[in-house]
Parts: sequence; structure tokens; C-alpha cells
Amino acid sequence: MTGHPRTSAQAVLGIAARRSMRAPSVFNTQPWHWQISGDTAALRVDPDRRLDVTDPDGRLLMLSLGAALHHAEITIRAEGWHVLADRLPDPSDPTLIARLRIGGYAPTDDTARRLSAAIAHRRTDRRAFGDRTVPDALLGELRRAVEAQGAYLHVVRPEQVPVLAAATARAAADERDEDAYRAELDRWTHRPLAAGDGVPATMAVRQSPRRVPVRDFAPGAPAGLEPGTGHDAGAGYVILFGTADDPADRLRGGEALSALLLNATAAGLATAPMSEAVELDWPRQLLTEMLDGVGKPYLVVRLGFPVEDAGPLPAAARREPDEVIDYPGS
Ligand SMILES: Cc1cc2nc3c(=O)[nH]c(=O)nc-3n(C[C@H](O)[C@H](O)[C@H](O)COP(=O)(O)O)c2cc1C
Repeated sequence: MTGHPRTSAQAVLGIAARRSMRAPSVFNTQPWHWQISGDTAALRVDPDRRLDVTDPDGRLLMLSLGAALHHAEITIRAEGWHVLADRLPDPSDPTLIARLRIGGYAPTDDTARRLSAAIAHRRTDRRAFGDRTVPDALLGELRRAVEAQGAYLHVVRPEQVPVLAAATARAAADERDEDAYRAELDRWTHRPLAAGDGVPATMAVRQSPRRVPVRDFAPGAPAGLEPGTGHDAGAGYVILFGTADDPADRLRGGEALSALLLNATAAGLATAPMSEAVELDWPRQLLTEMLDGVGKPYLVVRLGFPVEDAGPLPAAARREPDEVIDYPGS
């Protein structure tokens, strides 16, 4: 233990809630809201930020909330406190996703510090990665980090990549054919700048040949980012999955997603979640078969080393903390 934290429990929860706002979320919807009171922070879903067409069952919503929850937990531990999490604590209140309660001072947690430091650097990198492959030992570490959160990681085998590509391309094409999907995508890619959310064309990457296609966030418009000089040859694909598919499992899946992305970032990898193939029944069934029938697929993530001349990626926009964090009663 290296000295006690100087900040109070409530101040630490404020720091954690702010840092959780950097978590990844589907279409950058940031579907979360925090209420902080004394030593407790309640994470609530903001139902207006749900994607009714792309994510009608709220699967990706719950993954996004889980990622924010894990970002907050990691921050609290990195600040030198114990934290207790109560997930979906009130069945009569489905908007209440979790309560975090601060325990006493904790010994220094170097892992939490490393992951907490990665929060500011993590980006969804849709550009092509380089040729260097992800070492097996590192994939093993990522698998263990995911399992510590109660989910699992399947490393897509080379002979499975064409199936993943077909599932993703088919899902993308089917969605593109649907007016309601195009309207929802349009809504979240054309947000007013002040909204601090969504994925504008400036954050989209120009479409280029890939083994597995990347979601087109700027259909029919010039994308703001070049795909880069890499050929994506070293990119690896992993499927985050669990043994069940109910909201509580998805929430744990989101915490595991955060653990995966932050550990990968801390190890120098670039990462990019890809959810098209889990959004529609038939492609999701193909992914389920890739898991040899042992689990329910939550999300695909592309991992790799950026090419040497890849410049820094701009950070995606976020909402203002005072829109997201409340201190009721104070
Ligand atoms: C559940 C989930 C699904 C996502 N699906 C995709 C996707 O299909 N394609 C993509 O390019 N990014 C996807 N993302 C990444 C988000 O678009 C990204 O997190 C958001 O735009 C914020 O950017 P940042 O991750 O760089 O902070 C997904 C993220 C989450 C959490």
C-alpha cells in the first residue's frame, strides 16, 4: 500500500463516472447516466439512446453499459479503493443497471492502474492494421482477462475467417436494404456537433478491401479517415461470448469487453469492435456455429498492431459530464 488516497469516496465516484464516459458504445450512443450519492453510484440506462432497429433486444446496449461499468470499477480500484458492484439489483426497476459502492482503502492495484491509464488512449481503430500478427501469448493474456470477468474469448481460426467475412457482409447488405436501418444510421451519423455523440463521417474510414468488411458509417459520403498504408494482414479476430444471453450475462459481457480492449490497448494493440454479424439472426447463427456450439456470441473484435506510419487517431466525441452525472440531494 503506497499511502492512502487523498480524495473522498464521493469524489472518487465522480472521477470514475467521468472516466467511464470514455467507454466504447454502439454507434457512440453513450446510453448511460450516473447518480452519485454518498459512497454509492447508480448506473442507469438512458432509454432514449437505445437503437430500436439495429439493436431491438438491447444486446449491444447492455454490452455498452457493461463497458462503462468496468471502466468505472477499474478507475476506483486504480485510485486505491475497494469497490462492490451490485448488478441489476432491482427487478422492479429495469433502468437501474448497477450500483457501485465504495469500500475501504485498498492495497495498490498495479493491474487496475495499468488498465485505467489505457482508458484515455483506447480508440476504435477502423483503419487497416499492419502485417505483424498478434502473438499467441498475448491472446492467452486477453483470454484470461475476459474469463476473469465471467465471459469467454474465441480466437477465430484462419479457416473460419471466410465464414466471419460472409456473415458480416451478409448482415451489412441486409441492413443496408432496410429503410429503418438507414434512417437510424443516418440519425447517429449526422448529430449536431454540440451533442458530443454519434459517429460522424469525419470518424469513418474510407472503404477498402478487407478480409472482413468494416461497417460503412458514411454510405455515399466521403469518409474522413484514410484506411492507411497497412494491408490488415496481421489482424486477428476474436469473438467475445458467454454461456447465456440474458441481460445479466450481457452486462458481464460488456465488462469483459472493456477488460479485453483495455488490456489490448495497454499491450500496444489497436482494437475495433464489429457488431454487424451479431445484429441479425442468421449471421449470428453462423457465429454460434464457429463457437462449436459452446456459447452465445456477443461481439466480434478485430485486433492488431497499427502500421508504423499510422498517425494518432482523433478521440471520438463524448457528451458533457453534467449531462451524464447527477448528484441527487446535494
Ligand atoms: C457493443 C458495441 C458495438 C460496436 N459495433 C461497432 C461496429 O459494428 N463497427 C464499428 O466500426 N464500431 C463499432 N463499435 C465501436 C463504436 O462505434 C465506438 O466505441 C464509438 O464510436 C466511440 O468511439 P471510441 O471507441 O473510439 O471511443 C461498437 C462498440 C460497442 C461497444
